[in-house]
Amino acid sequence: ALISMRQMLDHAAEHGYGIPAFNVNNLEQMRAIMEAADQTDSPVIIQASAGARKYAGAPFLRHLILAAVEEFPHIPVAMHQDHGTSPGVCQRSIQLGFSSVMMDGSLGEDGKTPMDYDYNVDVTRRTVEMAHACGVSVEGELGCLGSLETGMAGEEDGIGAEGKLDREQLLTDPEEAAAFVKATHVDALAIAIGTSHGAYKFTRPPTGETLSIQRIKEIHARIPDTHLVMHGSSSVPQEWLEVINQHGGDIPETYGVPVSEIVEGIKHGVRKVNIDTDLRLASTGAVRRFLAENPSEFDPRKFLKETVSAMRDLCISRYEAFGAAGNA
Ligand code: G3H
Ligand code: 13P
Ligand code: NA
Ligand code: ZN
Repeated sequence: ALISMRQMLDHAAEHGYGIPAFNVNNLEQMRAIMEAADQTDSPVIIQASAGARKYAGAPFLRHLILAAVEEFPHIPVAMHQDHGTSPGVCQRSIQLGFSSVMMDGSLGEDGKTPMDYDYNVDVTRRTVEMAHACGVSVEGELGCLGSLETGMAGEEDGIGAEGKLDREQLLTDPEEAAAFVKATHVDALAIAIGTSHGAYKFTRPPTGETLSIQRIKEIHARIPDTHLVMHGSSSVPQEWLEVINQHGGDIPETYGVPVSEIVEGIKHGVRKVNIDTDLRLASTGAVRRFLAENPSEFDPRKFLKETVSAMRDLCISRYEAFGAAGNA
């Protein structure tokens, strides 16, 4: 059944687990996520970005999620809009039937220009007023995603600050977070701790200097009742990089957020963990391997089936690691 994200995150907080929020663009991702949730008895947060809407088209995306609810009626599903760039964008998602929206007022309507605190409070508060009147949950974001090493957001297209960010912007301030939550009444708060979107997060395995789990602890200590959200939380599995590179790909050395660090965050208030890149890597690796090993095959269902099973295995391991398994 389609349920509100707030209800789901409240349950996660009460029982001390985290829920992976996977991005969805196509049928194969949808199947992988739902089959994994079904096998592990996990609650599901499906999120769609503006890019997903552009790729699949809003009606296809909406019906893909509704189809998931129809085929798996026993699994609770929150239908979340990822990185809304204005109250208007969020309003249109609510009209489309989303049960949760993210108003990312850390960046402007272009999804690239870092904005100030007052702007962020204004657009987020307005979105909350509108969304709550419709029973829809809201995620806000305070701080900008980006590397603590380079100050860069790292994502070339999609959502990410353009230009160099300073340390102030790259680590969410606990006091400001408390004021932000009080002023906006958001249901969940995305925070900046050194992660960024995409595959190129860290040039070497992250340490406390480049990935600040410590900052999560400080924010959680200040606002223990707020559900925290980690963006840019793909782990960038080295096995999948190898599969890709062994079958014609060319992805340079790079590292993501270790699952063990996410699990540490979950002990300190993280309830929603955004993952997109890992599904993309698993999918690409599966296609490259299948086509390299089966050069005469040309039925797309053959290689797309491989992507479903690769992504499904990845989803299962995240549901289990984050403690969501068994909580549907
Ligand atoms: O916000 C980042 C997510 O990974 C979505 O990416 O805008 O390319 O769909 P996208
Ligand atoms: P990744 O690029 O690390 O998968 O992050 C996805 C995300 O934060 C979507 O909002
Ligand atoms: Na989101
Ligand atoms: Zn994000």
